Amino acid sequence: MSAPAVRWGILGAGGIARKLADAVTRYTASTVVAVGSRDEAKAQAFADEAGIPTAYGSYEALLADPDVDVVYVATPHSHHHEHALLAIEAGKHVLCEKAFTQNAAQAREVVAAARAKGVFVMEAMWTRHLPHVHAIRDLIARGEIGDVVSVQADHGQPIAHIERMWRPELAGGALLDLGVYPISFAYDILGKPDAITARGRLFETGVDGQVSMIFDYPSAQASLTTTMEARTACVALIGGTEGRIEVRDTFYAPTSFTVTRLDGTSWTYDGDVPNGFQFEAAEVARRIHAGDTESPLLTLDQSIEIMEIMDEVRSQIGVAFPNER
Ligand SMILES: NC(=O)c1ccc[n+]([C@@H]2O[C@H](COP(=O)([O-])OP(=O)(O)OC[C@H]3O[C@@H](n4cnc5c(N)ncnc54)[C@H](OP(=O)(O)O)[C@@H]3O)[C@@H](O)[C@H]2O)c1
Repeated sequence: MSAPAVRWGILGAGGIARKLADAVTRYTASTVVAVGSRDEAKAQAFADEAGIPTAYGSYEALLADPDVDVVYVATPHSHHHEHALLAIEAGKHVLCEKAFTQNAAQAREVVAAARAKGVFVMEAMWTRHLPHVHAIRDLIARGEIGDVVSVQADHGQPIAHIERMWRPELAGGALLDLGVYPISFAYDILGKPDAITARGRLFETGVDGQVSMIFDYPSAQASLTTTMEARTACVALIGGTEGRIEVRDTFYAPTSFTVTRLDGTSWTYDGDVPNGFQFEAAEVARRIHAGDTESPLLTLDQSIEIMEIMDEVRSQIGVAFPNER
């Protein structure tokens, strides 16, 4: 609520767009001024439900609206590249859903276009902005658990039946949709790994149903798992030379964690707040008002590196999308 106001336009009237609209409307000073859908009736129904004043029957019409400052790209991963480029070309700032694009080559193109146009762009990895994640970063930085030697994180949801999850044309699979959370979490703490080992179990359509990964660092390892066939524990564990952090289910959403130090002391942080998308929305508003073109909490080079990691995992497990280049 203390962040400055911006005017949001939503591109794609789907499931997650509802959550962002709710967060912006209820928990920030900003407003959602318009929604664009490929289907006018769908846009209108979404607008009526979310209390948004203007509904457009095409993405182009949304992007032509001068009252829209920043566009939330909420389409499937397969279309983030195309839709982010459209928004940037229209001179709009962009918050683009995860996974940022299908692959690193597409991510580099989006970043180059954003830099050429001078607009703000950020991947919508909302976890980075949550209160408990800020607290975890701070306590690691002040040495409370010593040197981090181990990160374990897991994300499994039983969503394989959803069309965009099993269709390779929509860049389906567990990795880009769910695995991106443990990967981005490990990256946040340990950075880009020196080596990656991945094993995957593929569906008949060619997308990954389940992936297990080990990331090697000079003095640490991360072990990360994801599946789209089961609701797994969705916890994260960080092991340090002086103590450990246990982040509760669901580690990537607002939650609590417990720190246990080698000396036996233990404390719990409660970061359970409603929705959670308001924190990334507030960061976007702050950066735009400051004239920044990216956020230090998740830079564009970091989003490219995360896509490079997922490219490497996909090459090891044998997943390619039909429309990527
Ligand atoms: N941050 C999070 O917690 C979170 C959670 C879930 C999903 N997501 C991300 O958000 C994105 C959308 O996920 P979602 O669950 O909201 O999906 P969804 O409900 O299927 O909505 C996606 C929207 O994209 C638009 N679209 C454009 N081209 C499409 C095509 N060829 N096929 C299908 N839809 C198309 C559609 O909007 P119109 O019909 O209105 O044009 C559709 O409603 C994904 O990248 C996903 O990873 C993020």
